[in-house]
Amino acid sequence: MKLGVCYYPEHWPEQMWADDARRMADLGLTWVRIGEFAWSRIEPDPARFDWSWLDRAIETLGAAGLKIVMCTPTATPPKWLLDASPDMLAVDSRGALRRFGSRRHYCFSSESYLLQSARITREVATRYGKHTAIAAWQTDNEYDCHDTTISYSENARQAFRSWLEQKYCNVANLNRAWGTVFWSQEYRSFDEVDPPFQTVTEANPSHRLDYRRFSSDQVVRFNRQQTGIIRELSPGRDILHNFMGVSTSFDHFDVSKDLDAASWDSYPLGFLEQGPWQADVKARYLRQGHPDFTAFHHDLYRGVGRGRWWVMEQQPGPVNWAPWNPAPLPGMVRAWTWEAFAHGAEVVSYFRWRQAPFAQEQMHAGLHTPDNRETAGAAEVRQVAREADELVGAETSRASVALLFDYAAKWLLDIQPQGADFDYFHLVLEFYAALRRGGLNVDVLPPDAPLDGYRLIVVPSLPILEGSLIERLSACGAQIIIGPRTGSKTGDLQIPASMPPGPLQEVMPLRVTLVESLRPGWVEAGDFGVSRWLEHIATELAPLARTASGKGFWYRHGKFQYLGAWPSADLLDVVVKATAESAGIPFLNLHEDLRIRRRGEVVFAVNYGPETIDLSSCVPAAATLEFILGGLLLPPAGVAAWREA
Ligand code: GAL
Repeated sequence: MKLGVCYYPEHWPEQMWADDARRMADLGLTWVRIGEFAWSRIEPDPARFDWSWLDRAIETLGAAGLKIVMCTPTATPPKWLLDASPDMLAVDSRGALRRFGSRRHYCFSSESYLLQSARITREVATRYGKHTAIAAWQTDNEYDCHDTTISYSENARQAFRSWLEQKYCNVANLNRAWGTVFWSQEYRSFDEVDPPFQTVTEANPSHRLDYRRFSSDQVVRFNRQQTGIIRELSPGRDILHNFMGVSTSFDHFDVSKDLDAASWDSYPLGFLEQGPWQADVKARYLRQGHPDFTAFHHDLYRGVGRGRWWVMEQQPGPVNWAPWNPAPLPGMVRAWTWEAFAHGAEVVSYFRWRQAPFAQEQMHAGLHTPDNRETAGAAEVRQVAREADELVGAETSRASVALLFDYAAKWLLDIQPQGADFDYFHLVLEFYAALRRGGLNVDVLPPDAPLDGYRLIVVPSLPILEGSLIERLSACGAQIIIGPRTGSKTGDLQIPASMPPGPLQEVMPLRVTLVESLRPGWVEAGDFGVSRWLEHIATELAPLARTASGKGFWYRHGKFQYLGAWPSADLLDVVVKATAESAGIPFLNLHEDLRIRRRGEVVFAVNYGPETIDLSSCVPAAATLEFILGGLLLPPAGVAAWREA
């Protein structure tokens, strides 16, 4: 449980560096991340390198005892490079160039950019790969940020054709898979296939899904090239990438196969403002962030990192990029840090050391004001650093619940939502929040992960359902909860011959004959109100919940349960509680603002609400707990921790 900070020596006079480094160590920080946007200072002119300043910055930080995360600067290629090769720029869905002037101005399919990315990575890794102060690497910065995964450039067009040829071998296979006989779209060769954009109306959905898969693979390829170079030139150092919140445009599990650990950038207040919640929820958690959103990402990125993950950027004060940017509640920077550690983070690193007085992010707070005074966030960091030093022996362990998360499910349901508000990510969050409200530890995993040892497995939705997953779910010892639209499509995005839920019918005798989406405000009355999405299910099974008009939407058969509706929070609470109890997992009725998470034998509790919470109201045998942090009465933004008996 170590702390770090993101630092930009190139933004500050060199006379400040030694004092900054000394104060970082004094604050209790172990790690410092540098370099991710510094290309124009490293290589001011083509092939003219200026390493002197970076050499001195690394010496200064290293001399203070800090471990450095060195970044490749490829998120910000300099102007001279783009001017020399404009084909490196991406093209948006209207066909417009995404020009130089901010960042991430490159196309993943540009072969010339790939060469440049390899070249600069090799230069940086050759220079610093074996330096004793360089202890880890970060590739690029936030793939997908500013919607940059998908590009419709000429480079992408050519690369997509090759990708299709690899996948389908001959164009007849493609025509069949996509159903191009519809609207006379048949192709005679791969060279006739364009990216699916600027069409008069909706492009073929299978074509669009393949373009999403292709675009994801391009990110994997780009990242893999850098990790290969860094591994060769900087052996023994962990390689990470800083992923984002709500980022689904490429398959993070795939990218992560080339990394040693995952990391993500956690901005709870910015994400709350941008998120799907109602105004009252946003008001309640305005200065805390949503109690489940950040935790979900911690669990997701632990899964992406195969157990190893960091928070690479942690919000320390108001950000600049959400529609509204409030300040955290006093204590919340500390609470966020503990929540991350409770979920198993190895490092929490704050963004950024000092607020920049210039350029795009001058309104974004740091641990210091632009005039170099500590902010409230810094004082909380000092406190966590002290506390974390004392809290030893809390190992992470596997959860009893697994939630299967699938990036391709997000792509498919975006392409074919069928109801304007059917959002996969939101649906997953609803299931996750119900598990967390019950105090359950959750591992978020890809559908092909090993499932042994879990007692409850939740599949919020998996439209493309492999028969092999049904076999693995049947064979494992867990109770299984499966959500709407699972098994509703083939891998080619067609309706399965057996009808939805496809291969799920091998273990549950039911058939979805029709689906309907419902406009906001419409609630189908019944055992639980149903809004948004309702499936009509033909089956001999007796429903566990039905609408007033008699349509069943919750079924159980053996260890499998199916929910053929967008589940309300009430329904999910009942389903999760009943299933956890039958799986022998302790379920808690937590206070609405309280969340707990176990790390090894230590239990952490965080109060996300505006009032003090008495733990004895919802934690069993609270009076006998021996607290490591906090106590029975948890104030707003308060953290408590105790060792489980
Ligand atoms: C992240 C990004 C940082 C900085 C930060 C501001 O998305 O990686 O470079 O822009 O947001 O909150």
